[in-house]
Amino acid sequence: MIRSLPEASNFSVPIDRMFDAMLVLCGAVALGVFVVMFWFCIKYRHGSDANREGRQSTKFGLEISWTLIPFLLFVGMFAWSINLWTLLRTPPADAKPIYVVAKQWMWKVQHPNGRREIDVLHVPLGVPVRLIMTSQDVIHSFYVPDFRVKQDVVPGRYTALWFTATKLGSYPLLCSEYCGTDHAAMTGTVKVVSREDYRRWLDESTALPPAKQGRQLFVQFGCSGCHDPGSGIRAPDLRGLYQSRVKLADGPTVTADDRYLHDAIMLPNTQRVAGYAPIMPTYQSRIDEEDVLALLAYIKSLEAGPSQQEGEHAQR
Ligand code: CUA
Repeated sequence: MIRSLPEASNFSVPIDRMFDAMLVLCGAVALGVFVVMFWFCIKYRHGSDANREGRQSTKFGLEISWTLIPFLLFVGMFAWSINLWTLLRTPPADAKPIYVVAKQWMWKVQHPNGRREIDVLHVPLGVPVRLIMTSQDVIHSFYVPDFRVKQDVVPGRYTALWFTATKLGSYPLLCSEYCGTDHAAMTGTVKVVSREDYRRWLDESTALPPAKQGRQLFVQFGCSGCHDPGSGIRAPDLRGLYQSRVKLADGPTVTADDRYLHDAIMLPNTQRVAGYAPIMPTYQSRIDEEDVLALLAYIKSLEAGPSQQEGEHAQR
């Protein structure tokens, strides 16, 4: 097939191949239907001397083959696409996490060592990258046509997208969800560089690592006044909290994942930890999503304290 777009990620070729197959299959079916339609239009036109008796005859072989063959072809198409979809949704365990915050009208990116950039995303060639994305305001959609990847970026939620860049170069980054006046201008560039260049580029950074940025914010926003061990105020201990099980005041037990921690900061009273008074103020509208990401990095960096026992969070 003729391609006008570069194929620059691990998904480009498989997705293009599937698109071609769907085009050929659907095109063949449409062609068959139209050929028969036109043939009948001519054969049975008004005044033609075609036989119109409506003879009843059943040819089982024909009936079965024109039912079964398209059925199998389309079920095959379904199996193929669900397979590819699963691959698209399953990042490898070693994928490099990069955080993306969308806001009207820009893409803000933070790399694992804390380096930030706006409307540009540097990625290393041949390394799986997992983007963890959220929005500061409305729904946006992260779209890199040359990589054949697209994912909605939703306020109050983390969505993920992964790919491995397979070609050096710069590729357009677009927003593909109408998000207000400057939606069309919410563009950027994905720069695929060699691993060495990416490492060098990261090393130029003077930014604090995200966990350290998070600690500063933790003190600045007053979180440490209650949540630091030995603060004297009865607030949940955050050491070893990430990915542990938390018993909530209204009954259920949940896993303290990114979404849980995000909501615990922004809307603390929606999922209060059992045994604690609802005294934590909400930080929604006082703290932006990039700061929440830094706080999360800090909370994730807190190891379980020596006095804590395995599964202690679960009993709270
Ligand atoms: Cu952001 Cu459209």
